[in-house]
Amino acid sequence: MGGRNPVKELFGELADGTEIHRWSLENGGTRLKVLSYGGIVQSLEIPDREGRYANVCLGFDTVEDYVASSPYFGALIGRFGNRVDKGRFTLDGTSYELSVNDGENSLHGGREGFDRTVWDIEAFTRDSDVGLRLHRTSADGEMGYPGTLRTTVTYTLTEGGDWRIDYEATTDKATVVNLTNHVYWNLGGEGTGTIEDHELRIAASRYTPTDPGLIPTGELASVDGTPFDFREAKPIGRDIRAGHAQLIRAKGFDHNWVLDKGITAEPEHVATLRDPHSGRTLKIASNEPGLQFYSGNFLDGTLTGTGGHTYRQGDALCLETQHFPDSPNHPSFPSATLRPGQTYRSTTIHSFAS
Ligand code: GLA
Repeated sequence: MGGRNPVKELFGELADGTEIHRWSLENGGTRLKVLSYGGIVQSLEIPDREGRYANVCLGFDTVEDYVASSPYFGALIGRFGNRVDKGRFTLDGTSYELSVNDGENSLHGGREGFDRTVWDIEAFTRDSDVGLRLHRTSADGEMGYPGTLRTTVTYTLTEGGDWRIDYEATTDKATVVNLTNHVYWNLGGEGTGTIEDHELRIAASRYTPTDPGLIPTGELASVDGTPFDFREAKPIGRDIRAGHAQLIRAKGFDHNWVLDKGITAEPEHVATLRDPHSGRTLKIASNEPGLQFYSGNFLDGTLTGTGGHTYRQGDALCLETQHFPDSPNHPSFPSATLRPGQTYRSTTIHSFAS
């Protein structure tokens, strides 16, 4: 790889003059670029079966583009991944009102979620790993959430080229936490068109159907005999036009799959994504109980990314490891409550092959 690793450079500035840096790191054949704004993965390059590298994540060239309008490209999501119904929940008898930013609901932490904040980053090398530690303290009441939340997110590139994310958080008051990352994948390379040919496998027999506001109804529905059955790998486009009421409502796949493995102490395999054209393959392991598969339904041809191409509907997909959306309002869902003295821990491992 040669030279210093990771490398830090000035990427740009926010309107108030805050400097935003970009860190570039490389290990085991994987190249990653991370911004101190939103902890954003701006680029992730991996080889195809001929050894040709491509950036497989959607993103922008400038800080201004991310600030102006980004549908969470590559960003760290917090404090709460996905939607909270009407931005309201009750914990230990106290009601909380969150920042509402998606119709009447709160999405991905609210108007100024973790994706729009600046992170302190320190680089490290440990044995044969290379990585970044991202720190941020979210003040009590930020976006309506209770408790001072001290968060550390570690991005590691391993010797084998895995990109591993370890999330950790503590609080000084009972609160709810659900951290994830919102990378948009196109294993053919960002800006190369649709992901409908990508083959996806999700190790889940059930999913959480949603209401018109994309809030889970509370039901855990079987995937059996429905377009939601990804237990065997199948092309994403195969059933996306099946006329299923849930797909029409969400304009495609935008649902939480209930992973068969449940919550696990260690990360276990949950999904495999493969682009048959390039051969690039992504495997995801997680300790979380849920996975949001979003088929890029709201990309509408108005944003132009790093390669100079406009992103259209279905040009990328997200696979977000998580607790179930709106779990603070569903006592039957795995609890997302974090209390003082406890440490929230979540790990996602992305492994690549071609
Ligand atoms: C998540 C949601 C989607 C959409 C995207 C961002 O995946 O589930 O409905 O809001 O984020 O555009």
